[in-house]
Amino acid sequence: MYFNKIRHPSNFTFAHRHDDGRLDVGDGSVQATVRDLGEDVFHVELAHATRWPLDARLLPLYEDAFSGPSSHRVAISASGTLSVTDAAGAAVLDGTEGASIGVCGSAWLIQFVRDEGMRFFGQGEKVTGLEKTGRRTKFWNADVWADHPLSVVIDGQADPQYAAIPYLLIRRGTAWVGILVDHPGAVFMDLGSNWFFTGKDDLDAPPSLWFGADQGVPAFYVIAGDSVAAVTQRLQRLVGTTPLPPLWSLGHHQCRWGYAGPRDLHQLDAGFSRHEFPCDGLWLDIDYMERYKVFTTSAEHFDDRAAELAELDARGRRVVPILDPGVKVEAGYEVAENGLAAGIFCQNPEGRPYVGFVWPGRTWFPDFSLPEGRDWWAGYARQFRDWGFHGAWLDMNDPSVGAAELDDMRFQHGRWEHWTYHNQYATGMAQATREGFLAARPDERPFLLARSAATGSSRYTAVWTGDNWSNWHHLRTSIHCTLNLALSGIPFNGPDVPGFGGSPDRDLAIAWYKAGAFFPFLRNHANAGTPQQEPWAFGADALAIIRHYVRLRYKLLPYFYQLWVAQERDGAAVMRPLFHDFPNLEGLELDRVDDQFLVGPALMQAPLVHPGEQHRAVVLPGRADGATRWMDAGNGRFLAGGRGIQVDSNAHSTPLFLLEGRLVPMQVGERTSQHNDLADIELHVILGAGSDAVATLDYVADDGLTYGYQRGERSRCHLRAQRTGDVLHLAISEVEAGWKPLRLRVVGYDGAAQAVITTPAGTVTQDLAPHRWTFSGEPLAAAIGDAVVL
Ligand code: NOJ
Repeated sequence: MYFNKIRHPSNFTFAHRHDDGRLDVGDGSVQATVRDLGEDVFHVELAHATRWPLDARLLPLYEDAFSGPSSHRVAISASGTLSVTDAAGAAVLDGTEGASIGVCGSAWLIQFVRDEGMRFFGQGEKVTGLEKTGRRTKFWNADVWADHPLSVVIDGQADPQYAAIPYLLIRRGTAWVGILVDHPGAVFMDLGSNWFFTGKDDLDAPPSLWFGADQGVPAFYVIAGDSVAAVTQRLQRLVGTTPLPPLWSLGHHQCRWGYAGPRDLHQLDAGFSRHEFPCDGLWLDIDYMERYKVFTTSAEHFDDRAAELAELDARGRRVVPILDPGVKVEAGYEVAENGLAAGIFCQNPEGRPYVGFVWPGRTWFPDFSLPEGRDWWAGYARQFRDWGFHGAWLDMNDPSVGAAELDDMRFQHGRWEHWTYHNQYATGMAQATREGFLAARPDERPFLLARSAATGSSRYTAVWTGDNWSNWHHLRTSIHCTLNLALSGIPFNGPDVPGFGGSPDRDLAIAWYKAGAFFPFLRNHANAGTPQQEPWAFGADALAIIRHYVRLRYKLLPYFYQLWVAQERDGAAVMRPLFHDFPNLEGLELDRVDDQFLVGPALMQAPLVHPGEQHRAVVLPGRADGATRWMDAGNGRFLAGGRGIQVDSNAHSTPLFLLEGRLVPMQVGERTSQHNDLADIELHVILGAGSDAVATLDYVADDGLTYGYQRGERSRCHLRAQRTGDVLHLAISEVEAGWKPLRLRVVGYDGAAQAVITTPAGTVTQDLAPHRWTFSGEPLAAAIGDAVVL
């Protein structure tokens, strides 16, 4: 697979006539179907029996999720040009006249006019910047360290990465449109890249953008909307929202290539306990297996597996080992012999099991495209869960086969060429593993973490962004990469903190933790042979700072959890770029801000991402007329939005802001362990003096682990707060205690001295006492009330 070269429209023949679904291309014709799925989601597909004989799409998307009418229109004109128009008939995307829908043998391509004002986002897991103008790219699950020179991985923009999500989000003026290529193989895209070594993309043609594939059924979705939030939610509902994760998966995780068994994990447990550092997940890399054989544990590292895992469990630690898809080729190894007998391994063109080279040596690969292949794997995953492991870390699923040629790996008993399933391979593995976990514990929410991913994988697994490097470049890159993943339907993701390869110094470790503490997924992971990088490896001072931010993450878990509830329910993004929630302002182009991010609707983090930085420019988005204010979480001061400011910061603090008019539920006090309770909260009322905002929140709490919430075992209430002078008025209604009673304390800021709390049982008035918690830096001028039990 070449990554740098893609097909160019010059070699394509374009449709020149369209009549009732028949599209004339050259001297032949293809069938074209445009379907309006509702709510401004459309599907476009071409068909031709000999050009595209095989439909290899195995993971159906949720096309019936949409019911409302569409206001936009996607149509192919009589001259064969595809366009997207809005309710007023104005063009949102114009196909290139005379060169809109093209074919070149089995390859196909769709071309639109690109105007200078357009901005591009999404594209899944890429490290090519927040905004993508000028990019030429391929979507192909790569084994990054094997497929790119290490120097490019370390300091450059290695592309493609592990996860292939062929999705493009386009802003044109105030209109937003997403294009999701509905294709299981490699997809290419060009957004005005340099084709002539002159800096220009094409000397003769008007500016355009195009996407397509080398073979396979031409198909894509168009998702229109008037906001990023609307388009992103529709995309997420189309590909499948993320099932509500277990609460423990949102905590801190400790991993390292080298942790091999209970002895290592007990040491970690002791370390985290000693330092009163909350940590839920302890991870095992490949050494826990017997000679790297999947679905085994090594007798060298485990004495009494069940008892050892139960002991860690009782201490509140969840053990998550790695699972690689490759099965060691070895006589007498039950997994290999069983898979061979079942005929579920991928085949080479000679009809024998395809051989790749991974940690155990020669390896066979389960064919997850086969239902029986997934069932076979699920059986082992079920047993793995029954052994007492809490989650699974799905690695090398790009798939990684060492230096062997991937083209020789075929699917569907050798009938399907490699490209048909390559990008879906990891998703099939995740699907099968999840099925196995659910079979073992039907009432427990599984947690999986995968390296590679594709459209739709968010239904089954979270994603980490693979092998990064401990440098400032990768810290910066991780922000825009994870933001674009969130816009592309993979919200549950995060990087290795503070970097996998190389060795972070104290400053980088602190900086990375301060950003990572607010990412959807937070795991410390390091390569074999690198210096130790547990949080206490950087000295007492660094540990105190890192711990502070991890404790803050735990404190914020009730707030984060609400975001995951909303994600499951309606696909709302969790971590978001500023332009997701706020419009551009004159002189404030939010779509260029790639070093700040929002977590849900209330929290904004602007981490220090350069060595030695003591202050930085921060954009406070929103209205400039005083209607938007941000509370500096370092000192409790309320600042007007709609402008950029300079903020002083240092190793001990971070520029963190809360949006006025929001209610932020948090756990009580400073969190010193991973023991959480969503029913016992501090409700932080972000209303400064003089605010006339009305802050509302529907709060839900459940056990954070089971599917009880789907059976009504969930407590909830509706909260509504306003401020008059120094008094906070909080109305609590719609109280349901399906799980257990909610306990709630009000926390106010900026001189709030009293809370008048109206509950269904009556009204209580509380004087607010000084608050004990600090976010960072100086203590906050916050005040806290007594607990109210609902
Ligand atoms: C590659 C993974 O990306 C990395 O996280 C892991 O530590 C190694 N494989 C060893 O399993």
